[in-house]
Amino acid sequence: MESLCIRVPRKSGEITRQKLIGLGAIDKNLKIKQDGEDLLIPILMPVEGFGELSKDDFEILQKEDSLAGIVGAYEILGDIAIIDQHESDAQEMADALIKSRKIRTVLQAESPIEGEYRTRKFLFLAGEKRTETLYRENGCRYLLDIAMVYFTPRLSTERMRIADEVKEGDKVVDMFAGVGPFSILIAKKFPSSKVIAIDKNPVAIKYLRENVRLNKVKNVELREGDAREEVRGILDADRIIMNLPHNSIEFLDTALRIIKKGGIIHLYAITHEDDLFEGTLKQIENIAQQFNFRVVPLDRRIVRPYAPYQYNICIDFKVI
Ligand SMILES: C[S@@+](CC[C@H](N)C(=O)[O-])C[C@H]1O[C@@H](n2cnc3c(N)ncnc32)[C@H](O)[C@@H]1O
Repeated sequence: MESLCIRVPRKSGEITRQKLIGLGAIDKNLKIKQDGEDLLIPILMPVEGFGELSKDDFEILQKEDSLAGIVGAYEILGDIAIIDQHESDAQEMADALIKSRKIRTVLQAESPIEGEYRTRKFLFLAGEKRTETLYRENGCRYLLDIAMVYFTPRLSTERMRIADEVKEGDKVVDMFAGVGPFSILIAKKFPSSKVIAIDKNPVAIKYLRENVRLNKVKNVELREGDAREEVRGILDADRIIMNLPHNSIEFLDTALRIIKKGGIIHLYAITHEDDLFEGTLKQIENIAQQFNFRVVPLDRRIVRPYAPYQYNICIDFKVI
């Protein structure tokens, strides 16, 4: 079957495959193939920055996995399957997913992710009628109610990337922490770090408290409320995570009030493919200037495709 694919050298094949899985861009129904010294990885959508894009023929994977025969767009969170909002054969898929015995509940998204708390509405389709699940990621466990809080498994590689950059003893502020997938991973990896996790959604904070307990981390301080107010008293943060992609930039002044000189900010945004980074970087520089900070960009990357022509990006920068 013909598919869009990315050509990468064999030696970087596995790392690219993992990153593409993190982006939700890999076509898991097709078999990766070798071409000389390169691998051709089938993908569902064009993604930049990994390797040359082309088209090729691929073998369809016949997996042992009992979910392999289920065709359609869905995502699994713990024992809950969430079928895409635009999937027309949702009930048929839901029945097949329940029969697979790997899934206990099937829901269909009824709205996009929306509102201040970034949540979605769901329609119940099959199995146990609930929206709470336990999800494992990067060696941590997260209890969450997907109808009440934001969560996506598609950021797992990104969360590990940020956690890998933290240094022992860092004071980290997670300004939009949700149920804690950045905060808890960092706290667990670096017990000598101090993580301050803020979220405005009381239900997210309730689960974050539960997840701190589940993962036995002692170095996370929880703050419930608007990040603008909840940063009070914080001085000299070493690192700030700003994962509210549609609005992060509006909170940059708050972040700059609490960061130390030499501190690092990871700012997420949604941008158009015609201006992936430059416009956002300019905005960052202008705001930083008002605080007498100079911005040193460290990294800029596409985290995942977001919508047609739009990308969820991250800019990492130091302020000096
Ligand atoms: C995109 S989610 C990210 C959650 C988490 N970082 C993750 O990766 O799962 C953004 C979070 O910011 C929270 N939020 C929105 N506005 C906020 C504000 N003004 N202050 C603090 N948190 C806010 C939402 O409730 C939501 O949990």
